[in-house]
Amino acid sequence: MEFKSVVGWRRSIRFFDPWREVEREKIQTILEAIYRAPRVLEIDFVRVVVVLRDELSADEMQTLKTPTTTAQLDMAPVYIFFFADLEAIEPACRGDNFRQLINMGVLNPSHGWTEEFAVGTAGQYIRTILDDEDRVPLRLPVGGDSATQIVSREALRLARTAIGIAQEYALLAAVDEGLGAQLSGVNVGAARGILGFPDTWVPSSPMLLGYHGETIEAGGQRPREPFEEDFFELRYGHPFYREPAVVDRLKAAEMIQDPAPFSWRMDEVRGLARKFGLPD
Ligand SMILES: Cc1cc2nc3c(=O)[nH]c(=O)nc-3n(C[C@H](O)[C@H](O)[C@H](O)COP(=O)(O)O)c2cc1C
Repeated sequence: MEFKSVVGWRRSIRFFDPWREVEREKIQTILEAIYRAPRVLEIDFVRVVVVLRDELSADEMQTLKTPTTTAQLDMAPVYIFFFADLEAIEPACRGDNFRQLINMGVLNPSHGWTEEFAVGTAGQYIRTILDDEDRVPLRLPVGGDSATQIVSREALRLARTAIGIAQEYALLAAVDEGLGAQLSGVNVGAARGILGFPDTWVPSSPMLLGYHGETIEAGGQRPREPFEEDFFELRYGHPFYREPAVVDRLKAAEMIQDPAPFSWRMDEVRGLARKFGLPD
């Protein structure tokens, strides 16, 4: 698919065909996309665990659910869990990845990069982030995950940035593979018990993945607040001028699509509920 239509066709899918498996090749394609996402401060933060729903017990499925993640967890055949490993910061402090990129002509003297700068200045800069005195609990006392380790707030922010970028690469790759996907919160304490991930891994919302159980339009593109309230130029309060001709071009390229709700959406939702044995 063209990039603009991938963006345009992405929406959070909450009805999946529960019986239709996702080909392993498509899952790998999504992982390959994540693998190529940008890397904050050259830190190899991202870790991913792929879980096939049918390998979990009914009890495990139940404990993963939250008030906002219910039937879609039962329907999606694949879950892709994203993490950022805080242990990845330590090698970055030694400047290992910076040095590698210097040797490849990616980071260059034109921009101040030398071996000494990589280890002394840039590596040291990451060390100050890691050791920063502004510290917060790694685990929040929500979702059954009790507070323990205290970590640098800025390091945690970088880790979560890395996860967010990985999640977005995954979502767009899923759409490009003709799949439906949704990021969805799960009970982190339950996920920890099931997946057994290390304490240094920062968890986040997994991506539920499968073939669409609803139409790919899924009732239309979902609402956003007015463009002018979110995008500015020069200074806050001065909206970025939204050129109508560009909007028209993006409509033609399928990035901007008809907004929700389509006139038939509520009938579709009732029909889906009956088809999948869910409450309507
Ligand atoms: C990090 C993250 C977590 C989310 N968790 C949930 C969730 O737990 N349940 C849910 O129904 N949707 C969840 N969503 C999806 C949002 O509700 C959705 O993105 C939003 O309604 C906009 O709709 P769209 O994705 O179709 O454009 C999550 C989205 C993000 C980015």
